[in-house]
Amino acid sequence: MVTITVNGVRHETRASADTPLIYILRNEIKLSGPQFGCGLSQCGACSVLLNGREIRSCSTPLSLVGDAEVTTLEGLPARWAKQKGLASADAENTLHPIQQAWIEEQTPLCGFCQSGMMIKATELLEHTPQPSVAQIKEAFTTSGPSAHLCRCGSYTAIIEAVQRAATVMTKMG
Ligand code: FES
Ligand code: FES
Repeated sequence: MVTITVNGVRHETRASADTPLIYILRNEIKLSGPQFGCGLSQCGACSVLLNGREIRSCSTPLSLVGDAEVTTLEGLPARWAKQKGLASADAENTLHPIQQAWIEEQTPLCGFCQSGMMIKATELLEHTPQPSVAQIKEAFTTSGPSAHLCRCGSYTAIIEAVQRAATVMTKMG
């Protein structure tokens, strides 16, 4: 039995140590944020945070998770609420500013890639609160194992959503 922590909750699994994390997240914990795209670390649809750093859950075996905290798209509101010290009642009605910005910019088209995009945006803005356009492009193209791919071509809207989220998050200190 292996225990991992996902979105602040401990989860026990009987899966073997070489099982890709995405199977635990989707099939056992029933989280639908991380998507199975390429399965080869080449698209970013499956991205989650591991102690705040983006990883590709399709190619990260359970054995590499250990005691680290996994955060999926579903965990972003609680992550933000915790960072801002919001009361639990407020936290339940809160979206992460990145999710809110994605809505306001109407960023998703088919939506398949967007969980991974918001995870990457979270990693970026937690480390670089006011990124330039060049830094945003760098984050989504060369900072990880591969570029984050959107077959619908939402790249411009993603840049605008990141900029909107950065403005809101900076104002909220
Ligand atoms: S499904 Fe994991 S990177 Fe494509
Ligand atoms: S919105 Fe369709 S793949 Fe990105």
